[in-house]
Amino acid sequence: MKTENTVWHPQHIDKKQRAELKKQKPALLWYTGLSGSGKSTIANAVDALLFERQCHSYLLDGDNVRHGLNGDLGFSDQDRVENIRRISEVAKLFVDAGLIVSTAFISPFRADRALAESKLNQGEFIEVFIDTPIEVCEQRDPKGLYKLARAGEIKDFTGIGSAYEAPETAHIHIDTDNKSVQQCAQQVVNYLIKQQIIQ
Ligand code: ADX
Repeated sequence: MKTENTVWHPQHIDKKQRAELKKQKPALLWYTGLSGSGKSTIANAVDALLFERQCHSYLLDGDNVRHGLNGDLGFSDQDRVENIRRISEVAKLFVDAGLIVSTAFISPFRADRALAESKLNQGEFIEVFIDTPIEVCEQRDPKGLYKLARAGEIKDFTGIGSAYEAPETAHIHIDTDNKSVQQCAQQVVNYLIKQQIIQ
């Protein structure tokens, strides 16, 4: 049920002050791509590079968040929309705390990614497209899920029984096929430096 009679309570310390303390600009790195494309691996490598540079960051990862906050959601279109809506809200709070947040979710629908972007200020949302062809993801099949999907045991698997709408104008486009994880992670960090989000 929708909550009524609640009023937004302003806080004494604002986002700008929190960010200044951390000597960085808050931002949201929104990774999107097929299952097995390398989102979590690359996001983790970026997070490690940020930590080395003494940046304050946090990674929200699809599989992990689905164990807790979104443990009640499945993979119907409706549940995926709700999954991304909740993540967008959590990510917004983390950005408000002055952090550089990474989210690694398939987030297959353009409209939902646009919704996440609309919650933030100009320049804070950075879409990172992990562009790995389905053939490559399927060959990697790290969790054996493509095999199950091809066998008809997962009906709504992204790229097989459920759509994936690739970004048309991602801020960072990563072609993982011929690059190491470290090279992909460095590409993200270089972008953050260029945009003066980190030093
Ligand atoms: S999303 O579509 O709602 O953004 P999310 O990133 O949270 O998906 O979860 C994707 C992960 O859940 C995949 O990497 C895979 O391990 C697992 N998974 C289980 N069932 C499915 C399915 N039907 N489609 C896609 N991924 C699935």
